[in-house]
Amino acid sequence: MPIEKAEVASVKLPLALVGDGALVPCIDGVERPYAGLDAAASTGVLPSVMTRVQDFLPLYSSVHRGAGYKSQVATTEYENAREAALRFAGREGRDDVAIICRNTTEAINHLVYRLRLNADDVVATTVVEHHANLLPWSRVATCRYVECGLDGTFTVSDVEAALDASPTPRLLSVTGASNITGWIPPIDEIIAAAHSRGIQVVVDGAQLAPHRPLPSTADFVAWSGHKMYAPFGAGVLVGPRAAFVEGDPFLAGGGAVDLVDLDEVVWTDPPEREEAGSPNVVGAVALHAAIDALSEVGWPAMIEHDRSMSRALRSGLMGIAGVRLLGPDLETDTLPVATFSVAGVPFGLVAARLSAEFGIGVRHGCFCAHPYLMRLLGLSEDQVARFRADIRKGDRHHVPGAVRASCGINTTEEDIQRLLVAVAQIAVGGEPRFSYLQDPTSGDFTPDPSSGWYADPRFQGRTCSPG
Ligand code: ALA
Repeated sequence: MPIEKAEVASVKLPLALVGDGALVPCIDGVERPYAGLDAAASTGVLPSVMTRVQDFLPLYSSVHRGAGYKSQVATTEYENAREAALRFAGREGRDDVAIICRNTTEAINHLVYRLRLNADDVVATTVVEHHANLLPWSRVATCRYVECGLDGTFTVSDVEAALDASPTPRLLSVTGASNITGWIPPIDEIIAAAHSRGIQVVVDGAQLAPHRPLPSTADFVAWSGHKMYAPFGAGVLVGPRAAFVEGDPFLAGGGAVDLVDLDEVVWTDPPEREEAGSPNVVGAVALHAAIDALSEVGWPAMIEHDRSMSRALRSGLMGIAGVRLLGPDLETDTLPVATFSVAGVPFGLVAARLSAEFGIGVRHGCFCAHPYLMRLLGLSEDQVARFRADIRKGDRHHVPGAVRASCGINTTEEDIQRLLVAVAQIAVGGEPRFSYLQDPTSGDFTPDPSSGWYADPRFQGRTCSPG
């Protein structure tokens, strides 16, 4: 059943993921069930995804390269996954291809290469994007950015102004939902505005895909399996077949060609033309299984669960004295994502304490979306320049950042209550019960090693600092 047609949930949410309920050691010596509130970064595995992968593994073999029985089965499974991805993106009846790649970042880099942009080309995009939808464009083309307000949102008119400025953009690339605020731009209207001007639209669906239907009118859409319960290394780029028919592919190699001589190559047709090398068939099988699982649940049930988690999380945090929630107000429909700061407590210390004292996993830092976070924090250009200078010197003591809690299909009300209780305790201020050390090269905090709490010193300075 196509996911967008599911009306009634046959599966009740929350749906436990593999490993949910696992006990993790806390610094007081007590083991607590892990509360994973970092779905916006990466999700765990759905049990049905794991079962499908386990069932497939005995039949695993090469794809598009063998007459053997296992190769035939693997090829069929791989192609079925591709079709499922096209259905998931709402592309039935269109001459589109689904290119299976690693993740959204790779998908967008792939597309940028294929579009053959140069510095004279203008790409309209927004300051809300995460780095995967900023850097691939800005390193080859001239980007025109739609600004956001302090609440982290922009309007369709703001986008129209960027589309109408001269020179006309070659395309618009925009996120389906923010990874920091969970804000969901009015994507259908934005796409319609671009199309009415003859401008193609790329949608970064990394955050949207596990929460809302992908916009079927977008020309190109990219998303990742690891954010939708299939963390086996597969993501997807969907777009019109015609966009991939001419020119050399992003990756050159076996499987992408019909004929090779030392001075000549005949590339094959898309999508295989775009998938040189042995593809990630296990990742594709996992992604297909996740699509099936989400289809079984259906959007109405997932959206209802998201809204209930989002309300509990965001209003609960807003109710804690000293906590500042970034992004739009509580009336705005967002994904179940909340990014916040706690007055007087460095964001890295909040995250470290949530982990070591309470067994709660969140993300902290700048969330691979530096320009957006700087705006949400309301930093002046001078402040940003100072932080940049510090980072260049290797000093991250005072870099700006925040803490993010984000929910998935498995998040329970209890997870959120635990977070709220813990944040409230931290927000009261005062010296932590345990001692924490800050690593100047990352700005991160970890419990003092003498506490015996788990923190591998080899990875100090690497938990959050890379953007
Ligand atoms: N994966 C990144 C995140 O955690 C972008 O939001």
